Amino acid sequence: MFEDRIYEMKEITYDRQRLEDFYNRVKHLSVDYSEIRNRATKGLFSSIKLDKDNHEGKEFLDYPEISEIVEQFNPVKKKIGNGNIAITVYQPHFEFHPHTDFSRKSVIMIPILPTDGGKGLDFYADEILGEDAHLVHTDEQAMAPGHDEEFYLGTCEYSTIHPTLMDTERVHGVRNDDRTRVYLQISIYDMFEDTVKRIKSGEFLSIKEK
Ligand SMILES: [Fe+2]
Repeated sequence: MFEDRIYEMKEITYDRQRLEDFYNRVKHLSVDYSEIRNRATKGLFSSIKLDKDNHEGKEFLDYPEISEIVEQFNPVKKKIGNGNIAITVYQPHFEFHPHTDFSRKSVIMIPILPTDGGKGLDFYADEILGEDAHLVHTDEQAMAPGHDEEFYLGTCEYSTIHPTLMDTERVHGVRNDDRTRVYLQISIYDMFEDTVKRIKSGEFLSIKEK
């Protein structure tokens, strides 16, 4: 389902437990999104972005737990830098209303917690954004309408073994359950379809012999 919006990279695997251990070392650094973006729901959505000042003088790519994952990906438009990496933390029952993402074209999603990957991603027909379509790339996004059965297309679950590429230009949202949901996200600026083609042709992934 949703092959035109997500691609599970069965070609490679990741070590979820290793990322959970890493998260436990940096989770005190998470910043509430409402401090960065207007109108974000306070206290429910935070993000960890390491920078040189806040943690051991190191950024994400200075840690092998992260760099060994990132080194496998070879996007065309924009090399993956520290600014394109985040660990997002959704508190229980947080709802990320249907939206499309700002600036990035797709994202590599790597679930950390809960151990089964937690609540998947909801996809919606474009029409759900209706008259608010012009707001979706702005800070007003949080004011966009929430889940609507009429436009709901279904939910995809993320693998906790393989990273998943997702098309952030398609309308998507999350309705979290009663668990904290922690994901490593890596932003990609090439079109989703182009990256899928490059994965299939062997250009996108550097696969290490084990
Ligand atoms: Fe998004």
